Amino acid sequence: EIGTKCAYQHHSPIKIGHRGAAGYSPENTFASFHKALLLGVDYLELDVQMTKDSELVVIHDATVNRTTNGKGKVRDFTLKEIQTLDAGSWFDPKFCGEKVPSFCEVLDEFAGKVGILLEIKNPNLYPGIEEKIADELIKRDLTHHEGPQVIVQSFDQQCLKRFHQLIPSIQIGVLLKKITGKGISTKELLSFSSYVSFVNPKITMVNQRLISKIHQHGFKTFIWTVRRRNEVNLLKHLRVEGIISDYPDFLKD
Ligand code: G3P
Ligand code: CA
Repeated sequence: EIGTKCAYQHHSPIKIGHRGAAGYSPENTFASFHKALLLGVDYLELDVQMTKDSELVVIHDATVNRTTNGKGKVRDFTLKEIQTLDAGSWFDPKFCGEKVPSFCEVLDEFAGKVGILLEIKNPNLYPGIEEKIADELIKRDLTHHEGPQVIVQSFDQQCLKRFHQLIPSIQIGVLLKKITGKGISTKELLSFSSYVSFVNPKITMVNQRLISKIHQHGFKTFIWTVRRRNEVNLLKHLRVEGIISDYPDFLKD
């Protein structure tokens, strides 16, 4: 049960900062990514979408409304236009001037220093986004396994299959968020076997049975999104491979 104290604290899951360190700073900005690094993460989790001029940008929602001072759909802005918006003040005025980062800017600043857990968001809105992302990773030689890695995840299994075909060496994670008693069927897990390395459920789905089933089928698992300290011990007890948190300091050993 969540919150139960246990004696399994020696297991150290991989520490992943959700949208950087979204509990402390405006999500998916350089400020948030730098904060996550300061808090000792192994990976930055971030969300990638595409602008009108086919540039990759790091932002969670399909519109800019919640996380900037602008209004409208991400896909209706050019990169230049979206980067005139303030992506920091909504969180706290002290972050005024933070921008919506381009994916290239994030890779240039952080890839190689820390792992990147890249979520392809709303791929149905952005035909060709898999190729664009693959091109940027190949250009920077980020497709091999030495050093901090890039992992690609999405809720969209077709998108993940397309990405896997483009760069088979990059590990793939399937995101799960259905909230049924059953978790995930054996049939569905078997259907992942040719292209998936990680099966990543929402914390509300997590129980011993689900995690054992994922492990028995040979997958690793990262759990999202941890926002309470007392969830961390349970997840360590279940020996999950990674924890994605808005508060990466909760994950310190
Ligand atoms: O890393 C998984 C998690 O980020 C998925 O949900 O809505 O935070 O992108 P969301
Ligand atoms: Ca995400």
